[in-house]
Amino acid sequence: MKNIYRLWYYFKKYKIAITVAMIASAIVASTDAAIVYLSKDVFDKIFIAKDTRMLKLLPFAIMSLFIVRLISTFFQSYLIKSTAQKAIQQIRNDMYYKMILLPMSYYDNNELGTMMTKVISDVSNLQSAVSSALNVFRSVLSVIFLTGVVFYQDFTMALSVFLIIPILMIIIKKSGKKMKKHSAKSQEQLGFVGFILNESFSGIRVVKAFINEAKEFNRFKLASVKEMKYRLKQAVVSSVSSPLIETMSGFGVALIIFYGGFKVISGETTPGTFFSFLTAFGFMFEPFKKINNYNNLLQKASASADRIFSVLDCENDIIDNNGSLKCEAAKKDIRFDNVSFRYSEDGPDVLKNINLTLEHGKSTAIVGHSGSGKSTLASLLSRLYDVTDGKITINDIDIKDFDVYSLRRNIGVVTQHPFLFNNTIMYNIAYGSDTEDMEKIKEAAKHAYALDFIEAMPDKFDTLVGEMGVMLSGGQKQRITISRAILMDPPILVLDEATSALDMKSEHIVQKALEELVKKKTSIIIAHRLSTVINADKIVVLHKGEIVAAGTHIELLEKSDIYSKMVLPQLV
Ligand SMILES: Nc1ncnc2c1ncn2[C@@H]1O[C@H](COP(=O)(O)OP(=O)(O)O)[C@@H](O)[C@H]1O
Ligand SMILES: [Mg+2]
Repeated sequence: MKNIYRLWYYFKKYKIAITVAMIASAIVASTDAAIVYLSKDVFDKIFIAKDTRMLKLLPFAIMSLFIVRLISTFFQSYLIKSTAQKAIQQIRNDMYYKMILLPMSYYDNNELGTMMTKVISDVSNLQSAVSSALNVFRSVLSVIFLTGVVFYQDFTMALSVFLIIPILMIIIKKSGKKMKKHSAKSQEQLGFVGFILNESFSGIRVVKAFINEAKEFNRFKLASVKEMKYRLKQAVVSSVSSPLIETMSGFGVALIIFYGGFKVISGETTPGTFFSFLTAFGFMFEPFKKINNYNNLLQKASASADRIFSVLDCENDIIDNNGSLKCEAAKKDIRFDNVSFRYSEDGPDVLKNINLTLEHGKSTAIVGHSGSGKSTLASLLSRLYDVTDGKITINDIDIKDFDVYSLRRNIGVVTQHPFLFNNTIMYNIAYGSDTEDMEKIKEAAKHAYALDFIEAMPDKFDTLVGEMGVMLSGGQKQRITISRAILMDPPILVLDEATSALDMKSEHIVQKALEELVKKKTSIIIAHRLSTVINADKIVVLHKGEIVAAGTHIELLEKSDIYSKMVLPQLV
């Protein structure tokens, strides 16, 4: 019920279409009832009374009814299907938009493959059910109208037969409940299948290098078979419930023949009434079976809706606590004020009491062993995560008071894993800024020492880079992401081991590109290569989440053991 209420939010703007469809359904249902009603006259007036006027009239009446039914069915069916498509499409869009806005912590805790399954498969479950929802309405109406007709024609006979209806209802309800349970499980398992797909395709190089195709296949097969088992359970439910309903209806027919036949013989009722009773039952067969099938579909969809709404209901700490100030970070100092951070409530402190000032226009290098918290520190500045304790300020304003998008617009990030979209080089360079100005894009590429290799490519800036930039070397990719940052021209820069994945030669070029980039910017340079660090205005040594020393290269060589041990081997 709760899900239906929430779905209504998406459907209410199609109120008119839905109303028309409902009216059309009601017309279809009443034509069913009218046909049954007329069948009494067919028997009593044509067969028994041999009324020739009726012989001419009734076939026309029935044909007209079927034409009305045809037109109404079209409207009912088309309007509902199109409404469902439109509304569900909006749900899917909302879902994607919600997901892409969710903070990093959501991505830390949810697998990509599972998230994809939700957007694709759960939404499509919902879609098929919603289109059926109105058919249920029509079937229910048919049952009610037909019931009305038979009760009107012979109350006691109707009563005896309709004892069967509660049994039918119980079957429908029970099977729906089972369906929901199995479907929730199969969707969950399908998410796991998606997760395996995503993981093995993303890691395809590793899979192949270690000749683990068969192992991955087995993992996939196991998950896939398990998913099928839940589907088989659903198949059992629907395969049992449908024939059960038919059987019960058959019993109903037997009852009519026995009790109705008895009443016709004793003269209490006409053969026409008896005949229309049988017709009514014939007509009701289908709606009942449909109600059952649709109910199963609906329950399945309800399981999917639970999963969809749980995504839509996710809290978004960052966006929900968005400040309103516009961030203008140029020429402003950045301060970490007693900042502590842990990734999860019961996790360890990854950063402890960090006090650090990043002077505007100056570069600060952060060095430390892997896992000491360098990347974490940088991601706090962009509010990819929020500090657990303390605060980060820009010009003495807490960064939480800024609109988070305006804050991020001030920060350019180059990481050790350059990510490119499968699009043109131009698209990738322009990704962080809205410009389409070719001159500016070229200029940025030039400053990033990327122009030469781009111009040497067959389609130059229009060259497609392939998925994740497979067509380019690591150094080339990195120079494209640096061009991107240069073009965006943010006042703050974060270089997180930007050169560490490169070979000596490309490192040298990328290094030159980076020097171009950090000019006059407030920059955080994370590196463990001495060459990168040595020119920084200030060097901070991070160890197990704490700042243990700060100063210039020369100062640190004297006063910090950790620093000396890290850089000395690189000096020789
Ligand atoms: N998304 C995350 N969830 C939980 N723990 C994390 C996450 N990212 C990093 N960590 C942990 O935080 C610590 C610091 O990591 P990180 O900032 O990446 O270190 P560095 O960049 O200095 O190598 C490590 O112990 C790491 O395991
Ligand atoms: Mg790191």
